Amino acid sequence: MTDLYLSISDQPDTVLDAIAASMDDRAKDPAMQEICAAYMGKLPKPGARVLEVGCGNGASTESLLRSISPAHLTAVDPAEGFLARARARFADRSNLCFAIGDAVNTQQPDAMFDVVVAHTVYSHLPDPRAALAEAFRVLKPGGTLAIFDGDYATNSVALFDGDPLQTAMTATQRNLIHDPYIMRRLPRMMVDAGFADPATAAHGFVQTRDPAYMQSLIARGVAAAAKAGDCGTDLSEALVAEAARRAANRSFYGAILFISAITTKPI
Ligand SMILES: C[S@@+](CC[C@H](N)C(=O)[O-])C[C@H]1O[C@@H](n2cnc3c(N)ncnc32)[C@H](O)[C@@H]1O
Repeated sequence: MTDLYLSISDQPDTVLDAIAASMDDRAKDPAMQEICAAYMGKLPKPGARVLEVGCGNGASTESLLRSISPAHLTAVDPAEGFLARARARFADRSNLCFAIGDAVNTQQPDAMFDVVVAHTVYSHLPDPRAALAEAFRVLKPGGTLAIFDGDYATNSVALFDGDPLQTAMTATQRNLIHDPYIMRRLPRMMVDAGFADPATAAHGFVQTRDPAYMQSLIARGVAAAAKAGDCGTDLSEALVAEAARRAANRSFYGAILFISAITTKPI
């Protein structure tokens, strides 16, 4: 895997812009808003102290704020460029704080938070066990940890066996995701880290009409593949064009299975 998020703080503005636009496209899809409401609706509210790990440009923070009314929300991300975008988005909110931090070193005090949330972050982490230990450290006893991510190994845009567009999904997994299987192993890891047995739920996400997010995922995945020398630009551009053709004639299909895992730190 060559997940570019592993070096996210070194990425140029053009890459951060493309990721930020893609995160916005995903967050504003009505199907994703329903999914967020379903799993975030299970979190303690209102009045909690919340830590969001890997907030990006604040697209998922906005979903979180729609579902819960925290007394205070601290959001951390290793990419200063994303934090600047998030601060600008929420310039009028006084109970939010955006700071540099890594999932394995949030730079937050012990037992500070009622809730820790990571929305599509763990699939990018090289050491999820260290991140769980860090979440355990910063949560109050009885606090809630919610991790949401794709079961990306099942991503599909294929309309038939051997559909060449499916190679764009393979490129996405190879270049934009460190561990496409993380959500299958995470429940056991949570228990190993000292958390209660998590409640897991499956959230199917399908785009047919207006597949802006899936198209941006394809475009970023194949562009990264071309940049890495895995394929030529002619092929990457042809795959982007094929996705656009299907979107225009309403034959596009793209599906991602997302999983939420919600657990608590024992009292
Ligand atoms: C797919 S984006 C999700 C952003 C945001 N949560 C959302 O859903 O809109 C993944 C985020 O994880 C961040 N990230 C990457 N490595 C990280 C790490 N080691 N610790 C915390 N966040 C990380 C990236 O900078 C990026 O903002």
